[in-house]
Amino acid sequence: MKSLFYSRLFILLPWVLIVIIMIDIDTKRTSVRSTAHFYLSRLGNAQRQDRTSRAGSNRTALPVIYAITPTYSRAVQKAELTRLSNTFRQVQRFHWIVVEDSNIRTELVSRFLAHSGLPHTHLHVLTPRRYKRSGMPRATEQRNAALGWLRMHRTPRDSGVVFFADDDNTYSLELFDEMRSTRQVSVWPVGLVGGRRYERPLVEKGRVVGWYTGFAVNLQVVLANPKALFKRRGSQPGMQESDFLKQITKVEDLEPKAHNCTRVLVWHTRTEKVNLGNEPKHRQDTVVIEV
Ligand SMILES: *[C@@H]1O[C@H](CO)[C@@H](O)[C@H](O)[C@H]1NC(C)=O
Ligand SMILES: *[C@@H]1O[C@H](CO)[C@@H](O)[C@H](O)[C@H]1NC(C)=O
Repeated sequence: MKSLFYSRLFILLPWVLIVIIMIDIDTKRTSVRSTAHFYLSRLGNAQRQDRTSRAGSNRTALPVIYAITPTYSRAVQKAELTRLSNTFRQVQRFHWIVVEDSNIRTELVSRFLAHSGLPHTHLHVLTPRRYKRSGMPRATEQRNAALGWLRMHRTPRDSGVVFFADDDNTYSLELFDEMRSTRQVSVWPVGLVGGRRYERPLVEKGRVVGWYTGFAVNLQVVLANPKALFKRRGSQPGMQESDFLKQITKVEDLEPKAHNCTRVLVWHTRTEKVNLGNEPKHRQDTVVIEV
């Protein structure tokens, strides 16, 4: 009995060793491959940017549009980011700054950005618990983190336009053509917001005289005002944006876009809160599916 066991073992042992060695080689190879992939994709990015800048001196002169998108984990997050990325992919000279409300860069967003094909920066900052109440302004820390990144990584020689692209909005491509020429701070109407069909800055004789909603800021204005931030203290609900603008510009200097603010090129669409009432309490599916 015993000798039979040993003879079987001696026949099996070499095969077991071979399998172990194969698995080892394979994991090494995939890690080499993923490192190579990392460098190659960076190279690819660099080449792609190079190509766009060589494709005519016009293109190089175009200021980069930096879209700052605060985001947080929820059922519709990936759907919202997908809608945005499908729009942004059609905008030339574009850089997406995605800031997660999280103490880590989540796998879902990391993977999503890696596959988006968009030049991007992925940041994260957790909103302190005391601010996570309804009625509190949202995304303050995330927006400020993105402004901080721009101030650290861009110089007065870089031309660009900065705007805040919330992940529950829908953007017309025309809006990007409009905002790209922002000299200081530009404004435009926003549709489906504040319980109304639209809200818009009041414009008289080509100058803004009343309140504003959507806006973009020239990168140099962001750099020249290093202390300008979104503030929690002293800001009334819904007034954070205008408080921020007051730190960097005056109403009379605002540049009206979208035909003197008479056209709506962005909508605060908001996704309906999803009903997950039929979601099984215990996972029943045999595979893990990212939604
Ligand atoms: C350069 O800009 C001019 C005027 O804005 C435009 O007519 C022309 O098509 C542009 N050329 C390229 C290569 O983009
Ligand atoms: C905006 O208004 C000004 C002053 O009335 C006018 O000169 C300008 O052409 C208008 N711009 C557009 C795009 O309609």
